[in-house]
Amino acid sequence: MVDTSADWIVSRTGIHRRRIAADSESTSSLATAAGLAALKRAGLSAADLDMVIVATSSPDSLVPATACRVQAALGAFGASAFDVNTACTGFLYALTIASRFIETGSTKSVLVIGAECLSRLLDWDDRNTCVLFGDGAGAIVLQATSGTAGVQHSILGADGRGGDLIQIPLGSGRRPSTQSVIDGSHWIKVCGNEVFRWASRIIVSAIRQLCLETGLALDEIDWIVPHQANDRILHCAAKDLAIPLDRFVRNLADYGNTAAASIPIALAEAAEGGRFLPGDRLVLVGFGGGLTWGAALLEWG
Ligand code: UT7
Repeated sequence: MVDTSADWIVSRTGIHRRRIAADSESTSSLATAAGLAALKRAGLSAADLDMVIVATSSPDSLVPATACRVQAALGAFGASAFDVNTACTGFLYALTIASRFIETGSTKSVLVIGAECLSRLLDWDDRNTCVLFGDGAGAIVLQATSGTAGVQHSILGADGRGGDLIQIPLGSGRRPSTQSVIDGSHWIKVCGNEVFRWASRIIVSAIRQLCLETGLALDEIDWIVPHQANDRILHCAAKDLAIPLDRFVRNLADYGNTAAASIPIALAEAAEGGRFLPGDRLVLVGFGGGLTWGAALLEWG
């Protein structure tokens, strides 16, 4: 469809393959499947949930929130439900909100999902974006605990001045939908090179800030679970931080950039592969549209 090659995609991004949702699927159906899998692993039922948060930039609809669709599909009728849209940083924002609610003591169990169906928002004639993104979902259950395991600290940041660098312009206020479809503003647009340079800096500064605020030395980090946007960004970060690349959980090759879903997918896959041991210190780090970024320190339970 576009003038590209497997060599270009693999060498410039690290992506080898990715998943595209079937016509019958949507962000909420992927999110529901991930949510069910997380509940099963946690040994909980939907009735145990107090809150469902879905991080997504490709919601099924503007209203209702995708989280409400998931709440209904799961039958989690005792849970509040809402979406968070901070693009690829969405999972970090959602995780932070969930852990703060739990810390207040008012909330016991939260299902946090990152889910995207970005293939529906791709212009398959735009080689700058159509080779990058994939569909998927990942989920975790956060629960109150008396131990030290869990989310220990997180930082969040935003710089709205860079809002034009990653955009899906279609919304409710700026222009009528009919006009948007005519001028293509329902497609995702990325200023790749500028975002690349910014992302390579912010991933490093976010990790450094998290370490500064927690007193953690860089060599005490067991695993970094980063947003999977471009393998070259992760190579740069590993070099700048002098952290071996094999401490970065990387699965971009198999899924492409799944935005808000990339961190929980990487987390779940690594956990299922038995890579994390109790007591391991994990740093999750995300960056993306907004511009937004965030990092969280977790102790694996
Ligand atoms: O998830 C949120 C955060 N997102 C990111 O962090 C994405 C960050 N950006 C990137 O990953 C990279 O910038 C891209 C993979 C998007 C692009 O790689 P790049 O090395 O920055 O390429 P570029 O945009 O500087 O373009 C270099 C050349 C251009 O051709 P000319 O102008 O030099 O003739 C592009 O037109 O590569 C061309 N190009 C392509 N060629 C073949 C752009 N896309 C393609 C393509 N196939 N798919």
